[in-house]
Amino acid sequence: MSNRVYIFDTTLRDGEQVPGCQLNTIEKIEVARQLEKLGVDIIEAGFPVSSPGDFNSVVEISKAVTTPTICALTRAVKKDIEVAADALQFAKRGRIHTGIGTSPYHIFHKLNSNPEAIIERAIEAVKYAKKFVEDVEFYAEDAGRSDNEYLARVIEAVIKVGATVVNIPDTTGYCLPSDYGEKIAYLINNVPNIDKAIISTHCHNDLGMATANTINGILNGARQVEVTINGIGERAGNTSLEEVVMTLKCHHDLAFETGIDTRQIMKTSKLVSTLMRMPVQPNKAIVGRNAFAHSSGIHQDGVLKNRENYEIIDPVEVGVKESSIVLTARSGRAALKHRLNVLGYEFEPEELDHIYQRFLDLADKKKDISDEDLEILAGRERNEDKCPLKLVSLQVMCGKSIIPTATVQVSFSGDVFTETASGNGPIDAAFTAVKALVKRRVRLEEFLIQAITRGSDDLGKVHVQVEHQGHTYYGFSANTDIVTASVEAFLDALGKIE
Ligand code: KIV
Ligand code: ZN
Repeated sequence: MSNRVYIFDTTLRDGEQVPGCQLNTIEKIEVARQLEKLGVDIIEAGFPVSSPGDFNSVVEISKAVTTPTICALTRAVKKDIEVAADALQFAKRGRIHTGIGTSPYHIFHKLNSNPEAIIERAIEAVKYAKKFVEDVEFYAEDAGRSDNEYLARVIEAVIKVGATVVNIPDTTGYCLPSDYGEKIAYLINNVPNIDKAIISTHCHNDLGMATANTINGILNGARQVEVTINGIGERAGNTSLEEVVMTLKCHHDLAFETGIDTRQIMKTSKLVSTLMRMPVQPNKAIVGRNAFAHSSGIHQDGVLKNRENYEIIDPVEVGVKESSIVLTARSGRAALKHRLNVLGYEFEPEELDHIYQRFLDLADKKKDISDEDLEILAGRERNEDKCPLKLVSLQVMCGKSIIPTATVQVSFSGDVFTETASGNGPIDAAFTAVKALVKRRVRLEEFLIQAITRGSDDLGKVHVQVEHQGHTYYGFSANTDIVTASVEAFLDALGKIE
């Protein structure tokens, strides 16, 4: 048996059945083109009889992509098959995917039928589809809960009339990995003509076992897997393409191959997530925002020493530029130094200690420290050393119905000076106090406060521009306390006056 595993992507059919995730034809074409770049073997483009939109999408996707086989879904109903064949008329390689339920639930309670009549309908559907296309895939819906002996009879019968692929869906996501693997092994061992078709897995994720079931299907002889990008699909979703592909790639000892260009994975994930307005959970394997992010000091140190200490996949392999070291209050000096180096800063150990203390202060106030925050911490380190005026303490009183008042303590050449003033707001009060302390005639020409990123816990960046005797001086600071940042920026500018 070959070790090539065919990737059948059903993002645009089973994936698109998610409420609120419907795409228009233009969007589906964009996804199909990206799936082609990703290297999937088969694109299930829709269920043409279900709506004119689905019919049209299968037609347009057939025209838009060249390499993958285009597949259209049908029930075991003649009209469905005719419409699917019509929709596939422009496909370079077209496949009809037809089938019927084979579990007792489906046979008796959905189709109101009996096992023998179902086998007849399955045979008729495959025979009819064969009149239109050579490549016919048969699905035994709810195979996961179907009796293996009966399932084997159905599969033998449809292969006899020409099914090229036989799909064994765990429609309700009920199977344990061991049960699903045994089911595939049972078919391999008990269907006499099984070598004439490829067995396909199609697992739903209701118990969170879709990937495990799919992998066990492959280990037991399946050579096609039906998957979706980001694992989207009905209810808890389908098996996720990226998880299966990367599992096979990581476990190269198993020697399975796919045609997927794994570097396209992240791009495809983002496209599907954006177009379907379906965010990817941050801790989702392979494509989640945190999949390659290290936040604890011990892990960060380990990753910086050797990425493989804590990573089994090189992020570059899935199209992510690099692993990220998320700087938080739990990060150590090694992580801080690394990130500063990446940003182009080199510091002596003593300077680094200083910045690390500031970093910890900030990290206590702010959840994640961004590169912009670091630039500011690093920049401040340099400015502060040069500035002769240092803010020792600042106390402000402000609020509704009180006069804003500020008490400022500034050190200059080793002496500490204190001044209190009021103003029309806390910053005005503090600036008035500073001016009284510095005793210079300065005019504030510009004053700008900006939040750097998002939340209310953000750093405020302050730029000031002051005029003194015809010269302009600039000052800058950043702090989560914007009054402190403003006074520091003001002192930074004043400190530059000769
Ligand atoms: O889950 C399922 O059984 C299906 C079939 C229509 C293939 O999606
Ligand atoms: Zn399904």
